[in-house]
This record gives sequence, C-alpha cells and structure tokens, in this order.
Amino acid sequence: MMAEPTRSSEKMWGGRFKEATAASVEAFSASIHYDARLYRHDIMGSKAHARMLARQGLITEVECEAILKGLTEIEAEIHRGEFVFRPELEDIHMNIEKALTDRIGPAGAKLHTARSRNDQVNLDFRLYLRDEADQLATLLVEVQRSFARLARKYMGVVMPGYTHLQRAQPVLLAHHLLAYVEMFQRDRDRVADCRQRTNVMPLGAAAMAGTGLPIDRRSVAEELGFAAVTANSMDTTGDRDFALEFLFCLSVIQLHLSRLSEELVLWSAKEFEFIRIGDRYCTGSSIMPQKKNPDIPELIRGKTGRVTGALMALLMTVKGLPLTYNRDLQEDKEQVFDALDTVKASLALTAELLDHSEFNVERLRAATHGGFMTATDLADYLVRRNMPFRQAHGVVGRIVALCQERNCELVDLTLAELQRFSELIEADVFEVLSVDGSVNSRISEGGTGSARVAEALLRVERSLGIES
Ligand code: ARG
Repeated sequence: MMAEPTRSSEKMWGGRFKEATAASVEAFSASIHYDARLYRHDIMGSKAHARMLARQGLITEVECEAILKGLTEIEAEIHRGEFVFRPELEDIHMNIEKALTDRIGPAGAKLHTARSRNDQVNLDFRLYLRDEADQLATLLVEVQRSFARLARKYMGVVMPGYTHLQRAQPVLLAHHLLAYVEMFQRDRDRVADCRQRTNVMPLGAAAMAGTGLPIDRRSVAEELGFAAVTANSMDTTGDRDFALEFLFCLSVIQLHLSRLSEELVLWSAKEFEFIRIGDRYCTGSSIMPQKKNPDIPELIRGKTGRVTGALMALLMTVKGLPLTYNRDLQEDKEQVFDALDTVKASLALTAELLDHSEFNVERLRAATHGGFMTATDLADYLVRRNMPFRQAHGVVGRIVALCQERNCELVDLTLAELQRFSELIEADVFEVLSVDGSVNSRISEGGTGSARVAEALLRVERSLGIES
C-alpha cells in the first residue's frame, strides 16, 4: 500500500529545509517500492542495535522494551500486508523508523542513536544476502540431485562427446551429466566463499567516520551471528564488493544453467532426439499444431543476459564513486533482487524439468556410429606398440581418409586393410575400435571409463545424501 506525499517539515531530515521536496524528486529518489523486501532484516538489525544501546546505557531498558515491542508489531503488520508504505519517506529504513516513532513516541526517536542509514543499509543488505546465500545453496543441491538421479538411471548408456559440436569421442551419458554436478558444486563453493566475506558486521561505521558515542559493535555482531566487524568506517559505508561478488556468483550459476539449456534445446530437436522433455515443461505453437517447443530452457538461456547485465550495471555504478557513501549506491539492490529472483526461479525449474525428462538411449548409442569417434583409441593402440604419438596420429588420419573415400567406418575395414597402414596392427585392434571398448578404456582419473564414472557417481551420491 502506498500513501499520499507529505510536506518536507514532516521528513525525518526536514529540519534545515524551507521548501517542500519537489514531487518529481520524491518519485525519482524513493526506493521503498523495492527495498521494502528488506523489512525483516532491517528490523532484525534495529533490534540488535537497540539492545546494544540499552546495554551501553545510551537508552533505558524501558525505552528498549518499547522499541522491541513496536518493531515486532510493525514487522507483523508488514507481513500481513497492512502496513502503509510512504514513498515520501524514501526507503524502508525511514518508513519503519517513522512508524515506530508514531507508535511509541520519543523512545522511537532514540533508535537511530549512533547509526546512519549508510551503515544501516549495508547491514540490512548483508543480512539479506546471507539468507539468500543459504537458499541458493539449497536450490543448487536440488539441481545436483536431479543430475545424480539421472546419472544413476542411465548408468552404462553411451553417447557421443563433442568438441566444436562435432562428434569427438564416445562417453557415458552419466559422465556428461556428472560434469554439471561439478559445475554446480563450484557454484556452491563460490557462494559459500562469498557468504564469508559478506558475513562481516558494518554497523557502527555510522555516516562514515564512526561515532563518539560509547557503542559496542562486537556485541551486535555476536547477536546477529556475524563472524567479525568491518575494520574501517570509510571503507564500510562505500563498500558494495559483497553485492558485486554475489552478482558474479549469480551470473556464473545462470551461465551454467544457460549452457545446459542450450544442450536441452539441441537435444530435444529432431536432428538429435536425445531427450524428451515432459509435456508439462514445454509449450505449443499458436499456428503450427504439431509443435512442442522447449521454451523453458530457451527462457533460462535468455535470462542470462539479464543476470550478467545486473552484474555489469552494478560494476558501472560503483566504478567512479569517491569514498564514502554516495546515493548512487541505492542502485545496488534492485539489480541484485532481480538477478536473485531470476536465478532462483531458473534453478528450481531446471531441477523440475530434469526430473520430468527422459533420454532416448537408442538414439544416443546410434549417434556414436559415424564420425570415427574411436580414431584416438586406434592411435593410442599404436602408441602402446611403441609408435611415437605424432606418427600414430598420421597413420590413423590416413586410415580415416580411406574410410571417408569408401564411406565406411573404422570397424568396417578388414585386418589386412588396416595392416597395410602399419604392421603393428593385429587382430585385437577391433576391441579398441568398438564404442564400448573405447569408453571402458578411459580409466584415467576423471575419465569416462565405466569404473571411474561409477566411483564418481558414488562419491556424488554420498555427498548429496542420496541412497544408492
Ligand atoms: N535508501 C538508501 C540506499 O539504498 C539508504 C541510505 C541513504 N543514505 C543517505 N544518506 N541518503 O542506499
């Protein structure tokens, strides 16, 4: 709910002003329409601040109790959707403080003792992002679990691995799926790392120089579960590194989702037909009755521009700012909120969509024929018989050229034909030329050999708490 504007004498900073603020200025500078979502964290921070003020004798116990009670009531009111947000009070901080003072009188006016909105907004944002980091971690785990379940279901299924989107070497589908588990694991680690640097308590920096009042920052940090307090009040009020890092984490997550989405789009095309996405996660065409379109992966891919755009926007906002706080910094939250909403929705949908998709095992295997995908295996075979790799590469290249001329596969050549290229080739070569032989031979650590992939899957399942 939004209310009518008021005169500037009613503004919390109105004392030195003779004129009312221009309506255009109020409209342009208000952030309440998006920073209202910080209300729980703003109140959490204010409560911790009030308790500290009381401990330090800066307000009385009675005043502190009134503040805490008032804030609890305001929080419930906002939660119920009954609180009236006033744009002329600019932001969530002043909306809540004004409502508190209206409600409890002079004690409310003491809440802002030894505090500025400059350190307050920094605190709120850090508290908010800490919670969001935890939610992101949960969503990332869900996506990883979906991949691990698919890997288990399709263990043993072969498919082409690609470089340059050209068939390269046969791999296990499970290996391909587990590659995404690794990507999202790095995302989890990155978010956890970013959370650590976010988890530092800024309150007490005040406007930017600290305060002469006898506050106790460490006790506030402890109450709010922060690991440390920020070291320099000037750095603190001008710092948005944590928000930038957070946006970078979000960008990489969305990038990973986008790469997956690209594969889902390709794989569901008739040309590939590797996957069938459940009807519930596809849409149709308004004109072509036969169409079933992968709009969800397309949208996820498309929204990547928006998330990386948010990162670029904040980088540019911070770029030319002199120390310390500048109002430019108010531009930080909307970008982060939008990116967060986008990434969270994309993660949740990806997990659902994977859970409702089926792979076409026959098509995947069929695609491993054609493309000479075991050519490297043949070169390695010659290397094992002591031929220098570069020479083996040349020999196999010439064999491939012959196959191309004849329009046949490596396995279609006879032993005698192969031996014309090198006498090192013997009857056991055909094992090496088969798709399964190729896959199973790749037992180097991290390779696609069945034994390696089985180990990797077990490790992943254990770390994700999946019973196998
Ligand atoms: N709404 C402001 C922001 O998001 C809060 C801090 C405003 N401080 C100030 N001195 N105007 O950054």
